[in-house]
Amino acid sequence: MKDGFGREIEYMRISITDRCNLRCRYCMPDGIRQVPASQILSYEQIAEIVSAAAGLGISRIKVTGGEPLARLGCPELVARLKRIPGIRQVTMTTNGVLLGQYLKELRRAGLDGVNISLDTLNRETFRQITGRDQLPAVLEGLEAALEESEWSRRDGKSGDAPFRVKVNCVLQRGVNDGEWPELAGLAGNRNLDVRFIEMMPVGHGRLVPGVSNTELFREMRRKWPELHPDTAVHGNGPAVYVQIPGWKGSIGFISAMHGKFCGSCNRIRLTSQGKLKPCLCYGETEDLMRVFREYPGVEEEKRRKILTEILEKAVREKPAAHCFENRAGITEQMDMVSIGG
Ligand code: GTP
Ligand code: 5AD
Ligand code: SF4
Repeated sequence: MKDGFGREIEYMRISITDRCNLRCRYCMPDGIRQVPASQILSYEQIAEIVSAAAGLGISRIKVTGGEPLARLGCPELVARLKRIPGIRQVTMTTNGVLLGQYLKELRRAGLDGVNISLDTLNRETFRQITGRDQLPAVLEGLEAALEESEWSRRDGKSGDAPFRVKVNCVLQRGVNDGEWPELAGLAGNRNLDVRFIEMMPVGHGRLVPGVSNTELFREMRRKWPELHPDTAVHGNGPAVYVQIPGWKGSIGFISAMHGKFCGSCNRIRLTSQGKLKPCLCYGETEDLMRVFREYPGVEEEKRRKILTEILEKAVREKPAAHCFENRAGITEQMDMVSIGG
C-alpha cells in the first residue's frame, strides 16, 4: 500500500530476536540488558502479522535480529513465511557465525538471499569489534553461501532468481577504516556485493565514530578511477552500487547520514517485541503484542482485522524522513538488536 507521501510500502524487516552470539561494540556491547523470552513475539505471532501485512501488499521480508540464527527454529520460520500467500521473497541478515551450519536447511526452507555482516578480515580486529574470536566461522559461512549461490546460478530452474549473497561492512574510525580496499576486494572474483554502511546514531551507534561514505567514495575513486555506477536492482534496501570493470560483484554504499534515501523508502519494521516501526529514527510505535494479549486464543479473524487496521494506520502515518542530522530529534531509545538494523 502507499503511505502518505505516495511511497509504495512492500518490504518488511523483522527482528526475530534481540539475542546475539557476538557483541559488536556499536550494536550490542557486553552488559546490554536482554529482553525476557516471554516478551518476544512467537513464530506463530510473527506469521499472523506477516499474513495481515501481505494482505496490504507487503511481499518481501527481511529476517534480522540480533542474530536470527541464534533463535531456535529459524529455518522453520523462513519456510512458514514463504508459504504465506503474497510473500514472494524472504531474505536474511546474519553475522554468519552459524550460517555454515544452517545454510542447507535455510535453502530448503526457501531462503532467497543472505546479507552477512563482516567488518574486517583480520582475526584480531574482528575480536576487538565483536568481542568474540569467530572470524573463521564467519568466513566458512560466507564460503558456504557463495558455493550455494554459484550452484543456484548453474542449476537454477528457469525463472528462479539466483541465491544472492552480500557483505555488510560498517567502518569505524581508527579501528577498521584502513581495511576498505581488502573488504571491497572481496567482490573482485566472487559473485558478491560488498556494501559500506554509514554508522547511524541509533542505540550504541551513537557512541562510536564512523566514516562518511562521501569520503570513502572519494578515496575509492582515487584508487579505482574506472569505477562507474551500477544501476541494476540488487535488493530491497537503500544501497547505491558501483561496478569496477572486470569485477564479478559490485560495491554498495548505504549512506544514511550523507546520502539521505528516505524519499524512496519502501519499508516498515517489526521489532522482536512486536513494536511496529515506520521509521528507524523515531520511538513512537504501535504495539502489536498488545493485540495478542487482548484477543487471545482462537479469535484469529478478529486479530487479523485489528492487526490490519494498525498496519494500515502505521503506513499511512509513516514519517517523511529520518532526522539523524539533528540528534535532538531522534526519539528512538531501543537497541539495534531489537529493531533489526
Ligand atoms: P537488501 O537490499 O534486500 O539486501 O536489504 P538491506 O540492504 O535493506 O538489508 P540489510 O539488513 O543488510 O541492511 C543493511 C543496512 O541498511 C542496515 O544497517 C540497515 O539498518 C540499513 N537500512 C535498511 N533500511 C534502512 C532504512 O530505511 N533507513 C536507514 N536509515 N537504514 C536502513
Ligand atoms: N549503524 C549502522 N549500521 C548498523 N548495524 C548495526 N548497528 C548499526 C548502526 N548503529 C548494521 C550491522 C548489520 C546491519 C543489519 O546493521 O552491521 O550489518
Ligand atoms: Fe550481533 Fe549484528 Fe549486532 Fe554485531 S551488529 S552484535 S553481529 S546483531
